[in-house]
Amino acid sequence: MLRRLYHEQPDTFAFTPDNLKWAEAQIKKFPEGRQASAIIPLLWRAQEQEGWLSRPAIEYVANMLDMAFIRAFEVASFYFMFQLQPVGSIAHVQVCGTLSCMICGAEDLIGVCKEKIASEPHTLSADGKFSWEEVECLGSCANAPMVQIGKDYYEDLTAERFAEIIDELAAGQVPVPGPQNGRYAAEPLKGLTSLKEYDSGKTKYNASVQLATDIGDTVKRIDGTEVPLLTPWVKPVTADADKVEEPKPAKNKPVDETGITKQQAVAESAAKPVGKSNPETTIEKEPELLSGPRDGGADDLKKISGVGPKLEGVLNELGFYHYDQIAAWTEEEIAWVDSRLKFKGRIARDGWIEQAQELAKAK
Ligand code: FES
Repeated sequence: MLRRLYHEQPDTFAFTPDNLKWAEAQIKKFPEGRQASAIIPLLWRAQEQEGWLSRPAIEYVANMLDMAFIRAFEVASFYFMFQLQPVGSIAHVQVCGTLSCMICGAEDLIGVCKEKIASEPHTLSADGKFSWEEVECLGSCANAPMVQIGKDYYEDLTAERFAEIIDELAAGQVPVPGPQNGRYAAEPLKGLTSLKEYDSGKTKYNASVQLATDIGDTVKRIDGTEVPLLTPWVKPVTADADKVEEPKPAKNKPVDETGITKQQAVAESAAKPVGKSNPETTIEKEPELLSGPRDGGADDLKKISGVGPKLEGVLNELGFYHYDQIAAWTEEEIAWVDSRLKFKGRIARDGWIEQAQELAKAK
């Protein structure tokens, strides 16, 4: 199957504020200079938010990680878990078509998909609510045949029950995931025959089925508000709730004479309210702007790591053409510039000031 960008694309993509916070925390997990390692979790979160990966979403993530678009697209197009075309507004159904499921009736389930959703995989149903695909073994072979819908497995299916599940989802109901033949997890249908002492104290359903039932949803898009941000590498949870550990500093060299590392600078920058998002507490000051480059021409701002041709154009439009202008920005002036850039925090993250100081000195 060809993995390419969908022929119709939205104009823009942006993480919700909570997802953005989560994504920024993911980036901090990786050592300085290795931020691109966060590509898969960030692409995945973008897909969880939108249901699929559009070109603007891939570009957005690439920009966050200072990667070329093609590098991010290579990842998105390589892994089949990334959907490169729109999926159903309610659910994308993934039918396992591997051995156990196939000999237990996967073809019947695919028949249901063809009849109720669309004759071809990766195609929206007429009402846009569903899409489907056949996938490789989902590791639930003992409960074959099965499908994954959203984050949940529906197991021990028959074609009839699967068709009902699609109807229930279409009607806004929340069908209980897990085995559909009454058994608990992968236990024998007639109950345990051994290890019975472990049978007491079980929740009504097993693991993720219980969770899906508790929250009353199986196909919700993730906007970051539904769970506490799981970022223990930023703020480890300790018995002492008041004790909050600082982010682990990078082992590499300090970026300036104060001894602060880039990673600490980023953490501090993230902790400080800057930009338009905190208008009541942010102090912004407009730096000195030029209407054009001085005699001798503009400096090549692309020499600053993290500044590409696009960003250089934005900086020029704002009135910055020279290294010494950037090198002289104060904290308030950084906040002013930051709030006018697409992705806040990159000035501190990439160490623009220090780089500009070096480049200005070397001129
Ligand atoms: S073969 Fe279907 S889950 Fe393994």
